[in-house]
Parts: sequence; C-alpha cells; structure tokens
Amino acid sequence: MATLCFAPMDGITTMATRQITREVFQQYGKPGDTLKLWTEFMNVDGFLINPAKVAEHLETTPEQQPIAQIFWGNEETLIKAAVSIEHTYGNLFSGIELNTGCPSNAVMKCGWWSELMKNKKKTLTIIKHLSASLQRLPFSIKARAGLNDEDLPAQQEFLIEASQYCSSISIHGRTLKQLYGGEANWKFIQQTKQRLLNPACLVFWNGGITSYNQAIEYQERYGLDGVMIGQAAIGNPWIFTPHQPSNAEKLEVILKHLELHLTPSSRMHFSGEEEKADRLRHRLVEFRKFLFAYVKGIPGSREWKNSLLSISDYDQMKAEICKFL
Ligand SMILES: Cc1cc2nc3c(=O)[nH]c(=O)nc-3n(C[C@H](O)[C@H](O)[C@H](O)COP(=O)(O)O)c2cc1C
Repeated sequence: MATLCFAPMDGITTMATRQITREVFQQYGKPGDTLKLWTEFMNVDGFLINPAKVAEHLETTPEQQPIAQIFWGNEETLIKAAVSIEHTYGNLFSGIELNTGCPSNAVMKCGWWSELMKNKKKTLTIIKHLSASLQRLPFSIKARAGLNDEDLPAQQEFLIEASQYCSSISIHGRTLKQLYGGEANWKFIQQTKQRLLNPACLVFWNGGITSYNQAIEYQERYGLDGVMIGQAAIGNPWIFTPHQPSNAEKLEVILKHLELHLTPSSRMHFSGEEEKADRLRHRLVEFRKFLFAYVKGIPGSREWKNSLLSISDYDQMKAEICKFL
C-alpha cells in the first residue's frame, strides 16, 4: 500500500494535468495505493492584489482535493492569503502548503527563497504562525535538503522543529546547489523522518524517482510515508501505476489532455475574440512540453518534434499527433 504524490510543478500540475493523472490512476492504480495531488505554487502577494491574475494556479475540481501550495510574500501576506483560501475555497483543498524550496531564478533574485533558508529561525516563526492561523485545513511545507552540503545539519534541525507545526513535510533530497539533477540524499530524508519532534508528521520522499517500482521500493526501504514524483511524471501519468501504456492508450490520453489544456478556465477573461484566439494559440504552443514528454523514447519522435514547431493550429496539431501515434 503506497502513497504516491504528484509533485507540485509550476506550469505542469495544472487542473488539466491533475485530472488526467487522477483518471489514469483510477483506471490503472494498484488497489490499496493512494494518489495525492498538489497545485502549482501561487504567489500570495499577487493573490491579494489581483486574485484573477494568479488564482488560476489554484484552480481545481472538488474531486481532485489537491494541497494548495503558496509562496512569496511575508508573514502577514502569507497568513492573509492562507486564511482567505481556507475560508473561501476550503472545501476544494486537502491542505495548505508553504513552499520553502523554490530555486527559480526569478525567486532567487528577489531573495525570497534564499532568505527563507538562510534565516531559518524567522522561517520557523512564519511556519508556526501560518499553521496556527488555519482552523480546519492541515498545514504542510515542502523543503529541500538545504542550500548546500554544509547546510545539511542546520536544515535537518530546522525540519525537525518545523514538524511540530506540520501535518506533512515533502523533502526534495537535493540541495539548492544540485538544483534538479544528481542523487537525492536518502540518508538525510530518512534521518530527518526518524528525528522529527512530531512523530505524527508524515514525510514524503522526493527527488529522482523514475518508475513506479522504484517508488514502491523506496517507500518500503526507507520507511517513509510516501514518495513524490516530479519530472518523471511529466507526460507519464502511468508512473503512479504499474501499467505500461500502449501507443493507442497514449494517444487517447494525449488528446484528452490537449483538450482539457485548451479549455478556457472560468477565471479567464478575454477582452474580445482576438485575445481569446491568441491565448488559445499560446496554450497550444505551451502543450508541446507535455506532448514531447509523452512521445519521448518512441522511435522517430526526435525528428517528429521538429516538424511540430511550426504548428499553432489545433486541428493540425491533433492530426499530426494521430498520424504519429
Ligand atoms: C518545471 C518545474 C516546476 C516546479 N515547480 C514547483 C512548484 O511550483 N512548487 C514546488 O514545491 N516545487 C516545484 N518544483 C520542484 C518539484 O516539485 C520537485 O521537488 C523536483 O522536481 C524534484 O523531484 P523530481 O526529481 O521527481 O523531479 C518544480 C520542478 C520543476 C522541474
């Protein structure tokens, strides 16, 4: 009985992608396994200033029940946004999470993430107050193993303390220096789990998992509460199941994903038909990142990808996909 978590990924774990992943899991997931979903992160300052602009990041269906992930801001704005999300959309989410591990250049330049990790005492206070501000929804954090190898011990102490205020902690076992490559530090994750001040706080492993079998093996071997998969799940919703899809099954899922990806959300407002067409064209181009991941490894996919670069029309794209698969 494994707990499999679809890692929050900006631009990837959208409502549409989560829906596809959930449907595949319902069809092929192993009985007894659980799939947990996360939203992309949402900038709380943006949410408080102009919710219509960023709330799309939290868009979901009631069935998905993802954890809503937030970041940016300061203690005051984080709490304001978390309380507002709980109050207004509480029934749509299974929890609220603070991202403490984002190394994106834009975020780092503003010092947001590095500040959090360098000033661990202050961050613990934010976590404590943020958690206490929620009435009903569980609070969690997502973290990295630290800034670099030298930071590992201090980061472990930080997570041990933070567990007092968290229902779960997802630990990406790579340091900031490693970004998204290299080995995740399993010893760090396992030791942290064993030393938590709050033993009821669940720990989810994250970093470098590339198959269902590996996820199952790691959960058992390292005595963790679940395994979180990010990059390897892009274009591969079957990774949370033991099922290996045929090309015909891939085709069916890709076309459904494409359609969902292009469906304008209820939060999207267009000033006119031209803007709507522009946005949809943009979305079609955006879908390539999923499409290229879906066809990775299929003979001829490299050359085929190049031929797609000039396509920005839905019918043409659909016809090309059907022809290839
Ligand atoms: C494109 C991309 C976007 C990401 N966005 C987020 C995010 O919004 N929130 C977050 O906590 N982590 C984010 N991450 C980190 C992933 O959740 C995960 O921790 C990381 O990819 C390591 O897991 P993996 O080795 O299975 O990919 C992102 C990663 C990628 C590749």
